[in-house]
This record gives sequence, C-alpha cells and structure tokens, in this order.
Amino acid sequence: MTSETPLPIAVLASGTGTNLQALLDTVHGQEAEIVAVAANVPGASALARAEGRDVPTAVFLRGDYPDRDARDHAMADWIAARGARLVVLAGYMELVGEPFLRRFPGAVINVHPSLLPAFPGLKAIEQALAYGVKVFGVTVHFVDAGVDSGPVILQGARELPDARDPEEVLAALRPLEHALLPEAVRLFAWGALSLDPENPRRVVAAAPDAR
Ligand code: GRF
Repeated sequence: MTSETPLPIAVLASGTGTNLQALLDTVHGQEAEIVAVAANVPGASALARAEGRDVPTAVFLRGDYPDRDARDHAMADWIAARGARLVVLAGYMELVGEPFLRRFPGAVINVHPSLLPAFPGLKAIEQALAYGVKVFGVTVHFVDAGVDSGPVILQGARELPDARDPEEVLAALRPLEHALLPEAVRLFAWGALSLDPENPRRVVAAAPDAR
C-alpha cells in the first residue's frame, strides 16, 4: 500500500489558511502535491501562502456566476484540469453542493473545529462555548451533501473546562487541526481509508504496518 508518486490534491480556502500552511509544511512534496488552491474570497491570505510556494491559485466569486452550482462547476473544472484527485476544504466557509461532490466522488474532505456531530456549521467554537462543554475538539471528515455530516476520518479533543473565549479555544485547537488534516491526507494518499461495509458511516484506516 505504498505510494511512490505524490497524490495531486487541491485545497479550497476562504481565510487565513493556517491549515493550508500545515499541508504545505508537511505532506506537500511528500505524500501529496498541492496542485491547486482555490478561494471564494479575494485577497484571502491562503492565496498568498500558496503563491509563496508556486502553487497555482484562482478565485471563484459567487457573484461572478448565475448561481452557486455554476460557480462550483467552474471551480471543479479548474481543479480537475490540474489533475487533483483529492479536494481538501481547509477553512472553506461555504458548502459545496452535490454537483461539485459528484466530480470528486469519495474524495472531498473537510476540517471542522468541533467534535462532530456536535456543533456543525458556522461558529462551531462559539456554539460549543454557549453550550458550556468542557471538552472541545476537531474533526476531519469526508464531505457529503449535508452540513459537516459526512463520515468521520479522524478526531482529536482537548479538555478546556474553564474556557470562555473563542480565540483561546481556537488557539488550543489549532495544533490538533494542523496535525489531523495532514494525517488524513497521508492516509488517503496511501489508499489506507475505506468505509466499513457493515456500517458505511465508519471510516476504517488500515494499520500503519499494513502500508
Ligand atoms: C479552521 O478552524 C477550520 O477548522 C475551519 O475554519 C478554520 C480555518 O482556519 N473550517 P485557516 O484558514 O485554515 O487558518
């Protein structure tokens, strides 16, 4: 189950791009090759991070297309033309619709700052603080047509019983995100991820010694 050739991947981002940076600093040029970075926000810092490593970038604004599906088709065309075989949503603050997902079946993953299925959607950390949880976490999951509802690949948690400030929680979760997202990409690139036939919600990761 070894992969000599890096897996071509695309990254979608909307903001600061620290998760993209984690991928650039770890799997890029190793198990994976980031061949495209697309944003839905002009000037997103993620774009500069990609350009700094000579990774092709593009911006796909919702307002430039008649509807979201048309924009997603254009984005999928651009990504596919660069040969990407995995799409990573790394702080991409929009849903991708079924037409986009059909272009990359079983090959779109997302990182979300909560222990799903708790607190899907926007402002997950604020939701968790408002609920009063004592344990916060991060989920990397396959993307389906729902909101943060696809099968879980990896999760990590931090006990923060006294947390009150979203920024403090985010700072505590960052290292988890920046470790789990590259690890999920590695597992995907190795072909180590599959769905349990008895429970297709359950993602099975092959044991490391099977690689
Ligand atoms: C991360 O917290 C991620 O979990 C969420 O959006 C944030 C993006 O951060 N989906 P960055 O742009 O990667 O720094």
